Amino acid sequence: MTLSATQNISLEGAVAEAEDRFVAANPESLKAWQEACASMPGGNTRTVLYFDPYPLTLVRGEEAVVHDADGHSYVDFLGEYTCGLLGHSNAIVKAALEKKLQDGINMGGPGIHDAAFAAALCNRFPTLERVRFCNSGTEANLLALNTARAWTGRDIIMVFEGGYHGSGLSFPPGGSNFGLPFETVVCPYNNMEVARSLITRHEDELAAVLIEPMLGSGGCVTANVDFLEMLQAETKACGALFIFDEVMTSRLSPGGLQKKLGLEPDLTTLGKYLGGGMSFGALGGRADIMDRFDPRHPDAWMHAGTFNNNVLTMAAGLAAVSEVLTDEALNRVNALGDRLRDHLNEVANKADAPINITGDGSLMTFHFDFGNPDLLKLLQLDLIAAGQYIARRGMVVLSLPMTEADTDGLVDAFAEFVDTRAGLLAG
Ligand SMILES: Cc1ncc(COP(=O)(O)O)c(C=O)c1O
Repeated sequence: MTLSATQNISLEGAVAEAEDRFVAANPESLKAWQEACASMPGGNTRTVLYFDPYPLTLVRGEEAVVHDADGHSYVDFLGEYTCGLLGHSNAIVKAALEKKLQDGINMGGPGIHDAAFAAALCNRFPTLERVRFCNSGTEANLLALNTARAWTGRDIIMVFEGGYHGSGLSFPPGGSNFGLPFETVVCPYNNMEVARSLITRHEDELAAVLIEPMLGSGGCVTANVDFLEMLQAETKACGALFIFDEVMTSRLSPGGLQKKLGLEPDLTTLGKYLGGGMSFGALGGRADIMDRFDPRHPDAWMHAGTFNNNVLTMAAGLAAVSEVLTDEALNRVNALGDRLRDHLNEVANKADAPINITGDGSLMTFHFDFGNPDLLKLLQLDLIAAGQYIARRGMVVLSLPMTEADTDGLVDAFAEFVDTRAGLLAG
């Protein structure tokens, strides 16, 4: 990346110049996006994939690399927002999928991999005594909340500022009329006093406390363990269910973040990479609760879903969990993430740059002290120009095929950003 001296004059000017550079480098992505705008609002069908001036159209991926429509290659630190843990086209998962394509799909009966995949998940996550599959993390959380309401006969759900549990399941300040109509109370994350008083105030009406044990899209903010322990104890005391959304965080140790932190939620929601890259969601937890889904139960809860046991997810998920996502592989990628985060923070500290990188293991997020979204935009556009693909929100996600050479490449590109943009970062 060669930057002209004018780029440090103003943040506005630097962003405009970075955008011009992006547009000049990406005419094919521009064309694809403009064509998409004719039939999809803003050319988009998944909000988080949009960034301005327009997103890159990705055409191919292998291992930890993605290629765009204009022929550039990037080290993929967006990692499909954590779903891409296995990297692109893992050979074991690919073979499992090819076999299923030969055998036939959409057959309308229990498949040969469903039970083995369920057992593999129950073995991996100790609090999962039973599990049910669905197709996304959003669905898994919807199912969890309805389960809690049906189990307790209560309606209020406690959630947290900055939490994200899926489309229609986020709780922005000031509320939203686009959310699912659950009765919610929203508590500041990691705030013991407020959480305790909200639980006490609603103890007879509270169905569940739903929490990410580390905020994922909310900025990779880790939870204080004593905060989670308090929530676990208070929910137990008042008869509400304690639900961990581990859609993102389950990768942070072989038994999920709950195992690493020593927590035992009643229910856990899963998603993303555990389906081996296919559409996936799951709800699991205590047998006494989950067994209410048993269709032989006289008052069984109805949970249908055409694709709940779709053969491609079952086969890819089973292959991924039993053959690829070994303890060793997960420990390695999380250690690589810890090393990367340390190095990025060292770069920022050494340069006295107002940037902090938070997170745990293979998940992290850049935060600028001034909270100006243009700084995140500039960072992302500069890193893209340097061959590093990251999310506009500043989130960085590692995948199994990554090496120290890959993560050192991101550190170098970040160091160049901090150096070249020093004038803009001074305040
Ligand atoms: C913590 C968390 N829960 C739930 C979801 C929703 O999952 P999905 O996008 O598969 O519906 C996400 C997605 O990013 C997530 O990060």
